[in-house]
Amino acid sequence: MIVCVCRRISDREIARHARAGLGFDEIQFELGVATQCGQCEGCARDVVAQCSAACPTAHIKRADHPTEGRPWNPLSPSLQASPAA
Ligand code: FES
Repeated sequence: MIVCVCRRISDREIARHARAGLGFDEIQFELGVATQCGQCEGCARDVVAQCSAACPTAHIKRADHPTEGRPWNPLSPSLQASPAA
């Protein structure tokens, strides 16, 4: 089903991006959905919300991947309490 008539973007295309872990703003930037008349924004947001709820782990970034973040280390000096003055 076409969600965005102005940009001719389907719910499948939005869902594919949402399942890949993109949020609404990223999908909007990537596809241009809801960037002209704006009538489709509510429907597009619903599609993203449904896909995010169905696949919440897609939004978790890998901590051990060099481009997606640093590994969490509870012994990291930046996380340890500073000594009392
Ligand atoms: S229908 Fe999507 S911006 Fe107009």
